[in-house]
Amino acid sequence: MGTILLTGGAGYIGSHTYVELVSAGHEVVIVDNFSNARADVVERLQSITDGPVTCYRGDVLDKTFLADVFRRHHFDAVIHFAALKAVGESVQKPLDYFEVNCAGFSNLLMAMKDAGVFRVVFSSTATVYGEPVSLPYTEDHRIAPVSPYAQTKVICETLLRQLKESDDRWTYGVLRYFNPAGAHDSALIGEDPNDIPNNLMPYIAKVATGELPHLNVFGNDYDTPDGTGVRDYIHVVDLAQGHVQSVNKLIDEGDTHVVNLGTGTGYSVFDMLKSYEKACGKALPYEIAPRRAGDIDCFYADPTTARDYLGFEAKRGLDDMCQTSWNWVSRIRNS
Ligand code: WQD
Repeated sequence: MGTILLTGGAGYIGSHTYVELVSAGHEVVIVDNFSNARADVVERLQSITDGPVTCYRGDVLDKTFLADVFRRHHFDAVIHFAALKAVGESVQKPLDYFEVNCAGFSNLLMAMKDAGVFRVVFSSTATVYGEPVSLPYTEDHRIAPVSPYAQTKVICETLLRQLKESDDRWTYGVLRYFNPAGAHDSALIGEDPNDIPNNLMPYIAKVATGELPHLNVFGNDYDTPDGTGVRDYIHVVDLAQGHVQSVNKLIDEGDTHVVNLGTGTGYSVFDMLKSYEKACGKALPYEIAPRRAGDIDCFYADPTTARDYLGFEAKRGLDDMCQTSWNWVSRIRNS
């Protein structure tokens, strides 16, 4: 076991990873600027883990803040979630994305080096692969980022590789996420976007609660079984457990790894809509809308490396993602 720092640990994936790390016996510390996290997430985490939560409010862009956190604790490893992650927004604000995602990460790495901490798990994305040359995506698929967001993730992955070449004390896990979805079984934490969601599941969730009138299906003429976009949705709790296995690998064996975290199964927009209707017990209205710029027909993971190397296998399916999402949104809308 060890002491782990989670940057962005109050966010959607960070908070679920916090719970899994604590239940695995780690000591965990959170830093977060709460720009994309609920103010009450700390007390919710205290309820789930039945214990105090150490959380410092601050920004990875603030070197003084980071140095202070590293002075207060001796960390065995860091898991870095703190970043901006909306593809569309990154096209509008590339400089913000470069500053937070790249400068923020290099700040963190410098603070780690100064504190003698050389193990890091990095939150990356399948969108580094770009337009599929072949499917399923394997980790050696061509890297061809399209959006500024994906480009920042490629830059960070490259920085890690070059850092290790310069100083072998560094060891890292790069986790390339597919499409995270769902919520914790307790319905105390989940995804709660501040404004109109970009992603499919949180959008459907707001249709189910009545906050949005209908789902816009971005195109039904894709080269897929039902014509709508196909993606590899992975339950956020499975994703969180993948982080536990990655950081344990670094602490116990020190082996650097780059792995896809996906299920290997693709689901369409209509598949998710149908599953969500089952979860919430009502028909959900939708309209066919034009394709969204930058979307591709279909992508999903080859999960072999994560299985063989980390012993990671996603256990939860689409119905569980929709049911836990519904339990979460219906609870917070009524609280
Ligand atoms: C999924 C499918 C849409 C919304 C993005 C990022 C990726 C990762 C996950 C960070 C597509 C369709 C969506 C809607 C729709 N994030 N859709 N109506 O675009 O695959 O991946 O989120 O790492 O980096 O690119 O996910 O949920 O936006 O879209 O029809 O209102 O749902 O066309 O086929 P995406 P998504």
